[in-house]
Amino acid sequence: MSGRILITALSVISLLALSACSDGGNNRKCKGEEVPTERLFLQQLSDTSVVIKWRGAATAACIGTLQDTLKVYADATVTEGDHKQVTFTGLLPEVTYFYSIGGARQAPADQYFTTHPQPGSLPADGNTRIWLIGDSGTGGDDEREDHEGEALEVLAGMQAYTARDGEPVDVFLMLGDNAYDVGSDFNFQQAVFETYPTLLKRLALWPTIGNHEMGLGFLNPTVALPGFSQSPDPDSWIEDTGATPRGMPYLDIFTLPTNGEAGGVPSGTEQYYSFDYGRVHIVSLDSQLSARDPDQLSAMKSWLIEDLSSNDADWTIVIFHHPPYSKGANHDSDDTEKLGGFDMPQQWMREQFVPVFDQYGVDVVYNGHSHSYERSFYLTNLTGKSDTYSAANNAELVDGNPNRPASGRGTEEYRQLSPTSGGVDDRVVYTVTGNGGKADSSSGLTEASQWLRHPAMIEQPADTVQPRRRGLAVIGSVVVDAGPERLRAHFIDAEGEVLDSFTITR
Ligand SMILES: [Fe+2]
Ligand SMILES: [Fe+2]
Repeated sequence: MSGRILITALSVISLLALSACSDGGNNRKCKGEEVPTERLFLQQLSDTSVVIKWRGAATAACIGTLQDTLKVYADATVTEGDHKQVTFTGLLPEVTYFYSIGGARQAPADQYFTTHPQPGSLPADGNTRIWLIGDSGTGGDDEREDHEGEALEVLAGMQAYTARDGEPVDVFLMLGDNAYDVGSDFNFQQAVFETYPTLLKRLALWPTIGNHEMGLGFLNPTVALPGFSQSPDPDSWIEDTGATPRGMPYLDIFTLPTNGEAGGVPSGTEQYYSFDYGRVHIVSLDSQLSARDPDQLSAMKSWLIEDLSSNDADWTIVIFHHPPYSKGANHDSDDTEKLGGFDMPQQWMREQFVPVFDQYGVDVVYNGHSHSYERSFYLTNLTGKSDTYSAANNAELVDGNPNRPASGRGTEEYRQLSPTSGGVDDRVVYTVTGNGGKADSSSGLTEASQWLRHPAMIEQPADTVQPRRRGLAVIGSVVVDAGPERLRAHFIDAEGEVLDSFTITR
């Protein structure tokens, strides 16, 4: 790491600069005390770079591979929403770096991260562990319903599960409705930064936009409700009736890739993006804003096709908020026109994007929005409502029996290239897991007899209702283990127990 050249542009500091920084005529040394922050998190972590972002008085950060002798100092840039930000580049793949805030020479023990493997390379331990939480944003005091502590219970469930084999999470994904009720900066402070502070110092958070990120919307001219915005314009965000519209806080808080900074094809917008972790490619789409405008939807779809066409990762994972298939308590994918059509993105994503997922090798899709867990069969070509689902949409049948779709469990593993797929990776497992901060306990807008009974979803043995439903009405989250031969996905409850699993083999 020494003997190289100092390159700085704005606050982008290259670690290739190490020796120049300490003896190159520049007196900015790492010394003094750590400065406390109001929020501290990582963004755009890649194999060679990281964005360290915070809010607070500190105006610089230091980084290094030895916790008590950090050597590379960088001044921060002030960004939207009064955040401070430093980008360090020139890092080495799969190396652990420590960092301090305010220019201190020593890093606090919990301020470290490990860079991603080189794109195309397996991580040293062979496995990529991904944690996904949906609708987790109940950790504040601003929600009308009381779900105090439930997001923390889900976090504890994941931690209990991962403690068993001791393998930490590598990638942290959020599926939208990240901060109830309106996605304000204050909501994010409580529901994200004060709920997951330790993880956020160690892992980059890769989110997607839920309806509650878009503030208040109007059901009719007089009734304003959080989560009902139907605007495709992020500058139309309002927190209160009568307030002047302004940019959505989500976009001020996060520094997401627009230019392929962490892999993938540049999207040109923070609203949707992709990145790589070794041999796993992850795409975050925007079903809340971009999906509501035909031109924006078309641009997002064209970008996705270009991105997936240039992708040869072992596994491709797509996240967005509105599920194409769901019989959640309030979000029925067959009934998207209700209440002025605020759930239309479920239908649009199914009609417009499912064919792209089939055609361009997507393996798994994760959504939130419905506050429960539902997981599909290995599907192809299902763009209609639930009554159009048939065995023809299912790649894996047990003994070829159209009445026995494979479960993905035990010996019924899904095969990425199935015997009937003609050598094409054209099958996708869809999972709804909008239960990272609350679970709906009764059917609401969805007909009671239909609740958690979408026919493309698999029956859940752990369900407590008879006959068993195709879903679970409990809180929890998903852990995905993506290895060289297999992708295994597990739904983990608040006690750390696995209630559903499936495996795709390569
Ligand atoms: Fe939600
Ligand atoms: Fe939602």
